[in-house]
Amino acid sequence: MRAIVVEEFGGPEVLRLAELPVPEPGPGEVSIDVAYAGVNFAELKARSVGYRVESLPFQPGLEVAGVIRAVGAGVAESHGLHPGQRVAALTRFGGYAEVAVAEADTVFALPDDVALRTGAALPTVLPTAHALLHEIGRLRVGDSVLVHGAAGGIGGVLGQLAKLGGAGQVLGVVSTEAKAEYARKAGYDEVFVGAEFAAGAQRATGDRGVDLLLDPIGGATLRTGLTVLSPFGRLVSFGNADGEAPWQAGVPDLAPGRSIGAMSILELSQQHPAELRALAERAFALVAGGAVDPLITAEHPLEEAAEVHRLIESRTTTGKFLLRLAGE
Ligand SMILES: NC(=O)c1ccc[n+]([C@@H]2O[C@H](COP(=O)([O-])OP(=O)(O)OC[C@H]3O[C@@H](n4cnc5c(N)ncnc54)[C@H](OP(=O)(O)O)[C@@H]3O)[C@@H](O)[C@H]2O)c1
Repeated sequence: MRAIVVEEFGGPEVLRLAELPVPEPGPGEVSIDVAYAGVNFAELKARSVGYRVESLPFQPGLEVAGVIRAVGAGVAESHGLHPGQRVAALTRFGGYAEVAVAEADTVFALPDDVALRTGAALPTVLPTAHALLHEIGRLRVGDSVLVHGAAGGIGGVLGQLAKLGGAGQVLGVVSTEAKAEYARKAGYDEVFVGAEFAAGAQRATGDRGVDLLLDPIGGATLRTGLTVLSPFGRLVSFGNADGEAPWQAGVPDLAPGRSIGAMSILELSQQHPAELRALAERAFALVAGGAVDPLITAEHPLEEAAEVHRLIESRTTTGKFLLRLAGE
C-alpha cells in the first residue's frame, strides 16, 4: 500500500511517499481502507519536532474516514464493528495511508447521512471542540466566548458549536485581516487581528471580560488571555502553536474566581478511551442532523501531503484540509 513515512524530523520535504506492507489489526484493533485523511496542526509538530513521536521512522496521520477492511480478535463482540462498515477513526499514527489501523475504542460508525469526506474532518475536531465548550468550558446560555485561531480547522467548528450551545457573543482572534473576513463569514460575531484582541474583547463585552476563552496558541497569548476574563471566567488551553515554554499560574493569577482548564484528545484517548468514546458520540450526534459544517477547504491526493503541510505552515490557510486516498 502507499503511505507517507517520516525518517527524520524536518520541513515538509521529509514527508516521503513509500510502498509498505498492508497492516493487519491486532486484538482490539480495526484496519480501515482509507477514503480520506484529515490534516491536523499536531501532525506538523510531529513531523518538525517529533511531538508525541516515540521513534523514527514514523507514519503521520491522526484521523481518517473509510470502510472497515478487517477487525482484530474480540472487536466484533466488544464494539459491534464489522468489515464493510463506513467509519471515522482516530489513529494514533498512520492515517496518511491507503490502509490505517485504529483501536476499536476510537472507531465510530458514520451515520448514513454523513459522507466519508465529511467524516474525515471530524474525529479530532468535533470531540475536542465539544469538550472545550461543554465538558471543560461549562458553556452557559448567554456566555461570551473568545476563540484563538478562529479561521482554522478547529476554530471554524468552535464558532458554530458555541452558537449552537447558546453562547451570547462569539468572538474570534486570527493573524490577518483576510482570515478575519473568513471567520466572520463562518459565523463569528466579531473578529480581532493579533494582539488587538485584549482591548477588543474588553470593548465588545462592555469591560466585563469574556466568560470562556479557548487558547491553542500558548505563551504570551495565554498570559494575556487571563487578563480579559470575566470575574468567573474560564480559560481552556488546548495547544501550544507558538512553541513557547510551558507556563504556570497560581492562585494570585486567578483570584477572585477565574479558572484554567486544559484539553488533549490524544491523552484522553490513551488514558480514558471510554470517556472519549462517550464524548465523541455526543459530538457526532450534532453533525448527523447537519447542524455543524466542518468547513473543508480543500482535498489533495496523498502524494501532495508535503504541499499541504507547507500551506498550513505558511499561515495563510483557512478551514480544514484533507488528503484523498480511495475517495468517496
Ligand atoms: N488539545 C487538543 O486535543 C487539540 C485537538 C485538536 C487541535 N488542537 C490544537 O488546535 C490548534 C488548531 O489545530 P488545527 O489542526 O485545527 O490547525 P489549524 O487551526 O487549521 O492551523 C493552525 C492554526 O494555528 C494558528 N497558528 C498560530 N501560530 C502558528 C504558527 N506558528 N504556525 C502555523 N499556525 C499558527 C493559525 O491561526 P492564525 O494564523 O490565525 O493565528 C492556524 O489557524 C493547534 O494548536 C492544535 O494543536 C488541540
